[in-house]
Amino acid sequence: MRDIYEKLVRLAKRRGFFYPSFEIYGGASGFQDWGPLGCSIKTNLENLWRNCYIHQEGMAEIECPTLTPYKVLKASGHVDKFLDERLKCRKCGRQWRPPAGERCPECGGKLISFTAGLMFETKIGRDVEEPAYLRPETAQGIFLNFLNLYRHFRKHLPFGVCQIGKSYRNELSPRKAVLRLKEFSMMEAEVFFDPNEEWPNFDKQKQKEITLLPSSEKHPVRLSLEKAVDTKIISSKPLAYYLGITHDFLLDAGIDPSKMRFRQHRKEELAHYAKECWDAEAYSDRFGWVELVGIANRTTHDLKLHSQASGTELSVEKVLKKPKIVEVLKIQPQMGKIGSLFKEKSREVKAFLEELDPEKAAGDLKIKIENEEYTISSDCYKVVRTREKVDHEKIFPHVIEPSYGTDRIIYLLLEHAYRETEKKGERYSILGLKPLIAPVKVGVFPLIRKDGLPELARTLDKKLKEKGVTTCYDEAGSIGKRYARMDEIGTPFCVTVDYQSLEDDTVTLRDRDTTKQVRIKIKGIGNYLKKELDRN
Ligand code: GLY
Repeated sequence: MRDIYEKLVRLAKRRGFFYPSFEIYGGASGFQDWGPLGCSIKTNLENLWRNCYIHQEGMAEIECPTLTPYKVLKASGHVDKFLDERLKCRKCGRQWRPPAGERCPECGGKLISFTAGLMFETKIGRDVEEPAYLRPETAQGIFLNFLNLYRHFRKHLPFGVCQIGKSYRNELSPRKAVLRLKEFSMMEAEVFFDPNEEWPNFDKQKQKEITLLPSSEKHPVRLSLEKAVDTKIISSKPLAYYLGITHDFLLDAGIDPSKMRFRQHRKEELAHYAKECWDAEAYSDRFGWVELVGIANRTTHDLKLHSQASGTELSVEKVLKKPKIVEVLKIQPQMGKIGSLFKEKSREVKAFLEELDPEKAAGDLKIKIENEEYTISSDCYKVVRTREKVDHEKIFPHVIEPSYGTDRIIYLLLEHAYRETEKKGERYSILGLKPLIAPVKVGVFPLIRKDGLPELARTLDKKLKEKGVTTCYDEAGSIGKRYARMDEIGTPFCVTVDYQSLEDDTVTLRDRDTTKQVRIKIKGIGNYLKKELDRN
């Protein structure tokens, strides 16, 4: 008996959802091509995501290069910490993910453990080659653009920025089709906020009940987001808020709510940049719980590290509600001494001292004036501690990151949508995809291939296309076969032109899920279908 995975992989290949890449050259594990129907689902899913994050949540979308200089990923910690623990066979060289036992499952050779970097290395530059990587996440491009984006949002926190695109990880890829790819698509949002300010809009989400598996528990609990925050299961409102947004998005896309949960990462599982992370997981018949989305609290990790490494401070000035008194170190130039030593150059010396970081000012200092070097002796200045009233302070915004794995979500949507019945003793498969996600929305058929029915059906097909409805015209084979072809790719509706259509301008409209048919006027059918399809 084939399991659902095998059935879906076969269906995907036959109908064009996804295929192994480079297949005519023997393929390469960890790479899959999206076929015409798969691409269409991907576009639909990305548009649903854009609708959620950009239109509803008010975020902005950007696009950055996938090739990333070494220094960026060194600063972010990926070069040193984005690693995979592996086992390698001494005899055949095959690599395995732990735990794989003491011996190679393939040849029985002894296994030794080692750590592998997960990023693909390359070089950029023509004259001087600089080491670089294919990006392992889209997020870094957003962090590097922080100041541009802060300006775009008129210097107000919180704000969110999204990026949709490819990322790359050199993972071991056992046969898992689109579930573990070396080149994969992500939809990521980075939300910048001040943790000392109340998170807006939590009220919109707080009553939502979701299934949570905290790292300290063995069994999941069903809780409202408000309760989860109050009981500190989820550490903050912004994090809980994006669990709620993710929950709604996955349900809207068609993930089965009874096969979905949010699992908290254990401490040892956390990525190097995360303080807390919840995975939205969906249950797969073959693979068990599969991570679809990671929602991480990245704190100030990335903005601080890039500030230090680049010398450009990725922070914001926060206006304080109440001014406060702070102790500051200050350099006080001793003008009497400076005057007597530096005469007409005293102004330059004073300006130099006032620019200096008081933390670093100690002992004799060197200054260059008009290309000549002078020594400022330590009695020319004092470092003093004073109290000052300030009405603003510099802060590094904190970051919550919902990060969606597009390819995996599509696979789980297919799996959750798949159902089987029997027709005339044969297996009959149906993909109950949501209309918004379905690659084809309406099948258009003439009942038979003569007597003017194909012409009328083609005219109707063209009309629907002009209305923006994705259709598939099909006149081959019996009507039953044509319904079956549409059902197995998840087409929500089929319209059939028959002899009665020639007399009264009506057609039959068949609903995929109920298989019920109704007669409907051709006039106005476009608007009717659009409304039905929008109901999702
Ligand atoms: N940016 C999230 C991740 O790399 O998984």
